[in-house]
Amino acid sequence: MKIIAINGSPRGMRGTTGRLLDEVLAGVAGTGAEVEVVCLDRTEVGPCVACDVCHKVGDCPIKDDFSEVRTKLMNADGFILATPNYIFSVSAQMKAFIDRLNGLIHCTALEGKYAVLVETSGGGGDEEVIEYLERVVSALGALTVGSVASPGAGPRQFPNQEELFAKARILGAELCTSIAEKREFPGQMAAHNDFKERMKQLVGFMGDYWTYEREFWANRG
Ligand SMILES: Cc1cc2nc3c(=O)[nH]c(=O)nc-3n(C[C@H](O)[C@H](O)[C@H](O)COP(=O)(O)O)c2cc1C
Repeated sequence: MKIIAINGSPRGMRGTTGRLLDEVLAGVAGTGAEVEVVCLDRTEVGPCVACDVCHKVGDCPIKDDFSEVRTKLMNADGFILATPNYIFSVSAQMKAFIDRLNGLIHCTALEGKYAVLVETSGGGGDEEVIEYLERVVSALGALTVGSVASPGAGPRQFPNQEELFAKARILGAELCTSIAEKREFPGQMAAHNDFKERMKQLVGFMGDYWTYEREFWANRG
């Protein structure tokens, strides 16, 4: 079983988000799953330039590290998105990465995969960032197993740290159990189906231009 973790902190694994992510990864490693961490501070993933080429050919033409990370994501059974809270949202690094996933979102291409979300903040407001990431996961067609989030209590420290870390480790293990058992999350299915219908219609309207996605949906049935 392969898990990929994508950390959007500009401090990479040295930061507070990286510290919490470490605990989730310990939970994953305890199950024997293979883990790869991609830190966006050491990876070149620029912003989407709205060229629409991904909708026409199924891949991004920008010559940076995105396509490699995308392939790793496609080949993984599960993924972890980790980010600090930057002004009520994800970091710019994580947002650039998410925007570059637009082609995958149009095809809800991560169906069958499972995700865990990690977020840290200076002073709170964690829920809205997690809710945003849950929408992204759902739009990708994947299922969110759960999330762990906390304000910091100093660099790489948290209030109620032992409890938080225990939750993070359990979540990491649950990601792998959910994959192994093909766990169902009925509460997420209605949103999935609505979004899928929306994408199918959108691609239908734009089919003369978005030829890759038109063929993708035609073959999906
Ligand atoms: C540009 C910037 C914006 C931030 N915005 C918020 C915010 O809106 N709310 C908040 O609680 N913390 C905010 N913070 C604090 C970070 O979310 C917090 O320190 C986080 O744990 C940093 O994680 P890292 O060490 O992994 O980068 C911000 C920090 C920076 C640098």
